[in-house]
Amino acid sequence: CASICPNVKPFFLCRSFSAFLLFILAGVSCNSVGKKIYVDLNNTVPCVRLLNATHQIGCQSSLSGNVGVLHVLESEENLDWVLDSGPNPPYMVILETPLFTRSIMMKLKNGSSRVAGVAFVVPNSNPAGGFSPHTSCPNENSGVYTEGYDPTLANCKNTVWNPLGSGLSYEDFDFPIFSLKDDNDTEVIRQCYIVHNRPVNGSTPRYPLCAMQLFSHMSAVTNTPTCMRRNDINFSISPEYVCDPLGDSNVWGSSRPLNNTAKGHKMWESVVIAAARLDSRSFFSNVAPGTESAVSGFVTLLAAAHALRNATQEAQPNRTILYAFFQGEAFDYIGSSRMVYDMEKNQFPLDMDNIHSVLEIGQVGLRSDSKLWLHTDPVSRRNLIENLQLVARELNISGEEPNLSQPLPPSSFQRFLLNRPIPGVVLEDHRSEYTNRFYESMFDNREYLNITYPPELTPEEQLEYVTDTAKALTEVATMVGRALYKQAGGEDSQLKNINADSQIVTQMLYSFLVQSNNSWLQQIISPDSIGHLNDRPLNLYVGVYQQASEPTALVHHLLANLTGSVLNITQENCNNQREDEEDKESKHGAAPPNSTERRGFCVRSTSRVFRALSPAFEEHNYTNKAYSTWTESRWKSIRGRIFLVASHELEMLTLGVGIGVLLTSLLLTYFISSKADILFSSAREPTNATY
Ligand SMILES: *[C@@H]1O[C@H](CO)[C@@H](O)[C@H](O)[C@H]1NC(C)=O
Ligand SMILES: *[C@@H]1O[C@H](CO)[C@@H](O)[C@H](O)[C@H]1NC(C)=O
Ligand SMILES: *[C@@H]1O[C@H](CO)[C@@H](O)[C@H](O)[C@H]1NC(C)=O
Ligand SMILES: *[C@@H]1O[C@H](CO)[C@@H](O)[C@H](O)[C@H]1NC(C)=O
Ligand SMILES: *[C@@H]1O[C@H](CO)[C@@H](O)[C@H](O)[C@H]1NC(C)=O
Ligand SMILES: *[C@@H]1O[C@H](CO)[C@@H](O)[C@H](O)[C@H]1NC(C)=O
Ligand SMILES: *[C@@H]1O[C@H](CO)[C@@H](O)[C@H](O)[C@H]1NC(C)=O
Ligand SMILES: *[C@@H]1O[C@H](CO)[C@@H](O)[C@H](O)[C@H]1NC(C)=O
Ligand SMILES: *[C@@H]1O[C@H](CO)[C@@H](O)[C@H](O)[C@H]1NC(C)=O
Ligand SMILES: *[C@@H]1O[C@H](CO)[C@@H](O)[C@H](O)[C@H]1NC(C)=O
Ligand SMILES: *[C@@H]1O[C@H](CO)[C@@H](O)[C@H](O)[C@H]1NC(C)=O
Ligand SMILES: *[C@@H]1O[C@H](CO)[C@@H](O)[C@H](O)[C@H]1NC(C)=O
Repeated sequence: CASICPNVKPFFLCRSFSAFLLFILAGVSCNSVGKKIYVDLNNTVPCVRLLNATHQIGCQSSLSGNVGVLHVLESEENLDWVLDSGPNPPYMVILETPLFTRSIMMKLKNGSSRVAGVAFVVPNSNPAGGFSPHTSCPNENSGVYTEGYDPTLANCKNTVWNPLGSGLSYEDFDFPIFSLKDDNDTEVIRQCYIVHNRPVNGSTPRYPLCAMQLFSHMSAVTNTPTCMRRNDINFSISPEYVCDPLGDSNVWGSSRPLNNTAKGHKMWESVVIAAARLDSRSFFSNVAPGTESAVSGFVTLLAAAHALRNATQEAQPNRTILYAFFQGEAFDYIGSSRMVYDMEKNQFPLDMDNIHSVLEIGQVGLRSDSKLWLHTDPVSRRNLIENLQLVARELNISGEEPNLSQPLPPSSFQRFLLNRPIPGVVLEDHRSEYTNRFYESMFDNREYLNITYPPELTPEEQLEYVTDTAKALTEVATMVGRALYKQAGGEDSQLKNINADSQIVTQMLYSFLVQSNNSWLQQIISPDSIGHLNDRPLNLYVGVYQQASEPTALVHHLLANLTGSVLNITQENCNNQREDEEDKESKHGAAPPNSTERRGFCVRSTSRVFRALSPAFEEHNYTNKAYSTWTESRWKSIRGRIFLVASHELEMLTLGVGIGVLLTSLLLTYFISSKADILFSSAREPTNATY
């Protein structure tokens, strides 16, 4: 019976002979029967498997999905039922936030023979306290602080940056873990559990029980070298990959055009790099709002670039400012390591010798008392600090230096330092450990930064509503803009003309944290990228290597709009602009606000994208510890459903009866057909009749 309709659990249909017959007669009805029995879960997000040079992390189910009896965990003591005393293992454990802790998850991992999987119910508001599934020392093996650089600074010996980090994101679970939105799905689950599974007064619950099945089978195993080898084998036979390198595209632009065709060292060029990261992550793939960890930084940098547009065009400082937005930094600095690699290999319009200094904007959304901390490297500090402090004083921001012996926090700048000692500063809102209590988690969202709007506002009004957070970030952006200008050698008299626009900051925050599909971005995004606009908050999880994901495309176009200028030429001429040779043009169309017909226009800007793929995949060398080796496994199906199961004995009994009935009917058929001559002789003409 199961083989006839593999998606339908046998016991419901084979429970009686008549059901069996009915089922065969109505052979077409597999699906409609399936729908009556199963309730599919709609808003699920899985944890997926990632691999590096030596390990696999994440979660997976068996090929046919893991099935377990539902158990809603009420407290840590309640784990005993799952791991030891419950009579119907394996269990599918339903958890809520306070119980999604390292201690409980590790106990479940240890008892995985009795655990079929875990479903985490996402609360509708952020948990009190903190929650970070990331490690307490992010990117500890890929930054500059190795044993060789300075043994006293390696492995966060000096400062533990993310003390709340539980490291759950880096564990390997051999059962699936899904997150469920707290809505009708979870209501159905709770009801099913209460009605069928909850032990009442210590008695064991009786069949049928409510069960859940989760599918998230992962194709790749062991580590990156293994799965890349399998990719190569598969490639020669049939193109079926098992894993893909993590990566995306970086975005960069400059305060004055750089010849993009001429790669490598440029004589007479000296650049100040202004950097921010573009990505974040969380335990579950595809829910990474990264509000404080990434958005606060790159929105500030975009606003600073905008503030610098006039000043850098009217009174050009003699150094160029290079705006760089790095992707994949959560996974051992994929984007920045690629930029440094390209500079070393003369694949970038500049090389390392062209870099004057680096100013990186880290997490700046949670300042207390207007304080910003200027982090430097104890081994390579120089004059940038003075410039920053000078402009900070004018703005009533206090820019303070932490303890001089403290190393840099995890930052892209470390990848530059790894190459050579360049002066640089990393701006943060924390002195030592992170202020961010939700680092690299799904709760690092706009609620955490108090970006809320009065409820009566329409979406259009929300887009323009300047929140306190937007004001605070505007202030930081003004400071960053002025410091960059000064650092680039600009005149002090221009500084007062450099002011970030709080309207633009608030529009950007709305676009990244509420919805990118709004009237402002619709005008800025070129017609061929309009598909990147969405009605939900942006997901900053880097994903697998692709030309340009949603965040990359948006930042690329925004940078063009905020630093470029509109050319009054026809579309044809715009397309004919010599983009590569002169490196000035970047074309972006746009639509007028409320017309259905999109009218393109031509924008001259220096905003560009370039590959953010780890050099390890360029060189096919996964033993080189210098580069990120993270890959993501492929999968075929990710889904979940709940249904009722009968006891194993009943299943076996039904199957037995079914087989018995089948054999009896086969025997009967055989008997009847072999004796047909006798049985049906009267109804037949004699075969030897002649006429
Ligand atoms: C791979 O990831 C694991 C788990 O986080 C870590 O222990 C290990 O050091 C990493 N290996 C490399 C080569 O980075
Ligand atoms: C893991 O489970 C075994 C029994 O299955 C137990 O003896 C051991 O203490 C557990 N380890 C941890 C770390 O809980
Ligand atoms: C959830 O259930 C309620 C009542 O049962 C219903 O009104 C509502 O539309 C459902 N929501 C969704 C998203 O299905
Ligand atoms: C999921 O969506 C389908 C179709 O929209 C609906 O029939 C089903 O009830 C939903 N599942 C739950 C658990 O709400
Ligand atoms: C850019 O560099 C290329 C190659 O070196 C050169 O041919 C071209 O003339 C340069 N363009 C400008 C505008 O300098
Ligand atoms: C740049 O200059 C133009 C006019 O020259 C002015 O309208 C605009 O507000 C200035 N922008 C900024 C950001 O100062
Ligand atoms: C920039 O100008 C300053 C003086 O205005 C000069 O000292 C410095 O050498 C110049 N730098 C470059 C790269 O030309
Ligand atoms: C958000 O609001 C709460 C309560 O008003 C306040 O305690 C907290 O400091 C605010 N956070 C930010 C980032 O403004
Ligand atoms: C930027 O977008 C605005 C619309 O919001 C438009 O008016 C302006 O011309 C654009 N500027 C550039 C340089 O693309
Ligand atoms: C754009 O150029 C056309 C002719 O080339 C001219 O008629 C028109 O006035 C220009 N528009 C603007 C805004 O400069
Ligand atoms: C666009 O809509 C606004 C208000 O929604 C209106 O004032 C304006 O006239 C409209 N513009 C066009 C070109 O239709
Ligand atoms: C990979 O990189 C390591 C470290 O740089 C080097 O020793 C090794 O020879 C490289 N292997 C290959 C196959 O290039």
